[in-house]
Amino acid sequence: MGGPPVTRALIPAAGRGTRFLPVTKAVPKELLPIVSTPALQLVVAEAASHGMADVLLVRAEGRTQLADYFAVDEELEAALADRPDLLGRVREVETLARIHQTVQAEPRGLGDAVARGEGFAAGGPLAVLLPDDLIDDRDDLLGPMLSARAERGGIVLALLEVPRSEIGKYGVARLAPGADPSGDAVAIVDLVEKPAPEQAPSTFALIGRYLLPPEIFAALRETDPGAGGEVQLTDAIRRLTLAGVPTHGVVFRGRRYDTGDRLDYLRAVVQLAVRHPDIGAEFTSWLREYVRRTLA
Ligand code: G1P
Repeated sequence: MGGPPVTRALIPAAGRGTRFLPVTKAVPKELLPIVSTPALQLVVAEAASHGMADVLLVRAEGRTQLADYFAVDEELEAALADRPDLLGRVREVETLARIHQTVQAEPRGLGDAVARGEGFAAGGPLAVLLPDDLIDDRDDLLGPMLSARAERGGIVLALLEVPRSEIGKYGVARLAPGADPSGDAVAIVDLVEKPAPEQAPSTFALIGRYLLPPEIFAALRETDPGAGGEVQLTDAIRRLTLAGVPTHGVVFRGRRYDTGDRLDYLRAVVQLAVRHPDIGAEFTSWLREYVRRTLA
């Protein structure tokens, strides 16, 4: 039913990172570290661990650092010959996936970024992973999404139930009448990008994981700029949904870290530092003490 397996993932990483200026003058937002691992690496690792061996980075002109980060660095490897622990960390990055890159000349929106992946998808299905959304590696999201696609085909989206006051920041799903969101996958009948909260058709927000069929590219070509004057992926998905392509959502109930702005990023760093295998225990006891002494 679901057709060929999803082996290709696209990661949009062409934004200017304005919320993180000035550091993003020099470092793309996606390479900012969560302790010592870039958010981008965590997302590539998530894709690779679900069988997506080819990853396309959609980057801005000149931002070669993104793909360079994953390239083999023989000089560094030689210098670390007697440090197997560090060498292991470096090799892990270099062997995660086959990294491809393409340029999005201007930031015209998420839909426009995904449209850059048509040649890469080569007529097959495509996963899209937004690097602002980190999924805790103890809580699988792509796995249940891939199962839902294998069973039902079509489009599979990731949903998160959020307070109505926050729903306007997201793409929002209208669930099929009487659909039960506690099941494995819930049928979606319509979508809207960044609605006014009182008009939102539900409180199920799209988060940054998508499994898309090849028809998405034709739909993107027919999609005019929408919310914020940008070509919205949500609007192109909507075209397919309304045209009868089965569209389902997997409701995520695990831990998600948003790294989209400075405050969210700091929260993500602290939460992931607390459980870091090398420094987590020490950081946690320091943090406890710091809060008790300074902030209590
Ligand atoms: C994008 C999508 C939106 C989705 C969100 C998830 O919005 O356009 O539909 O809900 O990612 O993080 P952005 O956060 O880029 O404004």
